[in-house]
Amino acid sequence: MLLRELNRGSCKTYLVACERTRRAILIDPVKQHAERYLAMLAYERLTLDALIDTHTHADHPTASFLLKDLTDSRLIMHRRAPVPAATEHVDDGDTIAIGEVELKVLYTPGHTPDSMSLHTGSAVFTGDVLLIGGTGRADFAGGDAGQQYDAITTKLFTLPDETVVFPAHDYRGNKSSTIGREKRQNPRIAGRSRDEYVALMASISFPLPDKIQEVLQPNQTAIDDDKTKFPDLTQLNQVRQLKPDDVRVRLQSAAPPFVLDVREAQEYTGELGHIAGSTLVPLRELAERAGELSAHRKGPTVVVCRSGVRSTTAAAILEGLGFEEVYNLQGGMVDWNDRALPVER
Ligand SMILES: [Fe+2]
Repeated sequence: MLLRELNRGSCKTYLVACERTRRAILIDPVKQHAERYLAMLAYERLTLDALIDTHTHADHPTASFLLKDLTDSRLIMHRRAPVPAATEHVDDGDTIAIGEVELKVLYTPGHTPDSMSLHTGSAVFTGDVLLIGGTGRADFAGGDAGQQYDAITTKLFTLPDETVVFPAHDYRGNKSSTIGREKRQNPRIAGRSRDEYVALMASISFPLPDKIQEVLQPNQTAIDDDKTKFPDLTQLNQVRQLKPDDVRVRLQSAAPPFVLDVREAQEYTGELGHIAGSTLVPLRELAERAGELSAHRKGPTVVVCRSGVRSTTAAAILEGLGFEEVYNLQGGMVDWNDRALPVER
């Protein structure tokens, strides 16, 4: 197995390749370095088989969408990833094969709901869940310090002690570490109980990354044009959330809500299906097609997507356009299916 870090900065991108078949993957590629990755692949005579984002990044635009289009490679993300550009979704226990290299997927949420780690042989790629001498922040929307503690202690810390840790970020110039060393010495988590860890994370005030919404929303939606005006954080935080079971109850009532699905057409008829009677208007078309929905201005409307992220954006856009009673289906069609609620395909 060939393994290289390609960015030489605080943000890490890993090239992993099978030396026999010359098939390669890139883990967490950064948009500004896309040309460097293509040059490196050519130099090493490798074919890009797949791109993997360990989670939806908030601090840099991903190169995955661009490289996927240029090279026809797959984009693999966790099943809770909101972005419609992912061509394959994986979950805990799945295996990703690149030639003769096999990466085992560990679902390690906490930094974000779609965070996963990848384990192969003596290496583990930990995304932003476990860093060298630190852990990723858990204060973004969907972050959860308790889940992060569980993921680190019950999944990552049960790997062999000598496993080398490859995080998605390192701000301190660390070269490398192992699971054993992090277990013993990581100042955030070593020797702390779950409650102590949650209290510690709550006590740290992390500065927000520069331009977080300008980076996060294109990474969540794969929409990167000038037509779409994304709502700001305050508008997103005001969106009312409904759990799948509550939506189901409302749909069975005498005055069921209008259900608006904002995914892409292929997702609407894809593996997760859609809610019967829902109307499809993809998020990228919503602003210009909102006029078609004017009969529902007074509401109630429930907005739906894959994981509840794009639909929160859509709900905030509709509220901005004067729609009076808009709700988001929390957890989207992923949670709807997990609750075994009825779908059409
Ligand atoms: Fe991150």
